[in-house]
Amino acid sequence: MKIVVTGGTGTLGRHLVPLLRESGAGVTVLSRRGDIACDLLGDVPPIEADVVVHLAGGQKGDDVATRNLLAACRGVRHFVYISVIGADTVPLAWLRTKLASEEAVEASGIPFTILRAAQFHDLALTMVRGLAKLPIVPVPAMRLQPVDARDVAARLAGLALGRPAGRVTDLAGPADFDLRELVRGYLTVEGKRRLTVPIPLPGKAGKAYRSGLNLSLDGDRGARTWEEFLAGR
Ligand SMILES: NC(=O)c1ccc[n+]([C@@H]2O[C@H](COP(=O)([O-])OP(=O)(O)OC[C@H]3O[C@@H](n4cnc5c(N)ncnc54)[C@H](OP(=O)(O)O)[C@@H]3O)[C@@H](O)[C@H]2O)c1
Repeated sequence: MKIVVTGGTGTLGRHLVPLLRESGAGVTVLSRRGDIACDLLGDVPPIEADVVVHLAGGQKGDDVATRNLLAACRGVRHFVYISVIGADTVPLAWLRTKLASEEAVEASGIPFTILRAAQFHDLALTMVRGLAKLPIVPVPAMRLQPVDARDVAARLAGLALGRPAGRVTDLAGPADFDLRELVRGYLTVEGKRRLTVPIPLPGKAGKAYRSGLNLSLDGDRGARTWEEFLAGR
């Protein structure tokens, strides 16, 4: 089986690519510095593969990148896309591009699988590390369900090696946290003392987070915990 993984050099891709290779698949990585060196926001060469797993993404332009990639697919039997829980409920520009990407995949005519995941532990760590730099830590009032990128990679590997399944059950982490709890856990592990101060998030996105619209209520749960992730760094 020939599989092209876009974004295979990223946080998620670095876990997924070895799993796919272990299965015996021939895996080619597409990224701006990958085996196929290509910027998906520009001209994309023809992509000939049995399966495309589309992970490449950034802060802007995911919808454009996804449409460009879909248009370049030749003979692809299965297109697997990773999206984000809340893509259809939290009004943030970045999430709108994820939803538009999902819609492009669904409309492409290529048999597909779409998995929505919660924030990866790595991203949660980047957030709390940034917040904890300040002597008094302002913490947006929001709940999160961080999931380990290795659990997402394992789920995606199974999906990529299986049949197209459409939108599958969301994957969140094993526990729900206030962001403040994540910050405190990080400060404890780092041996730091800081005062944390909750701050409300403004606007429609803030309302969506306060209402928990970024959370999965009945999705699957990963196994690896935030505490294990912090301890294992
Ligand atoms: N991080 C999270 O918490 C989270 C949660 C749910 C879903 N997701 C989704 O999971 C996917 C992977 O996330 P990640 O955290 O692994 O991302 P990441 O670590 O930032 O990696 C992004 C990957 O995409 C490639 N890339 C970025 N822009 C590109 C472009 N214009 N053309 C070609 N390649 C490009 C990068 O490689 P080069 O720099 O070499 O191009 C890299 O391999 C994304 O679609 C993201 O939306 C992430």
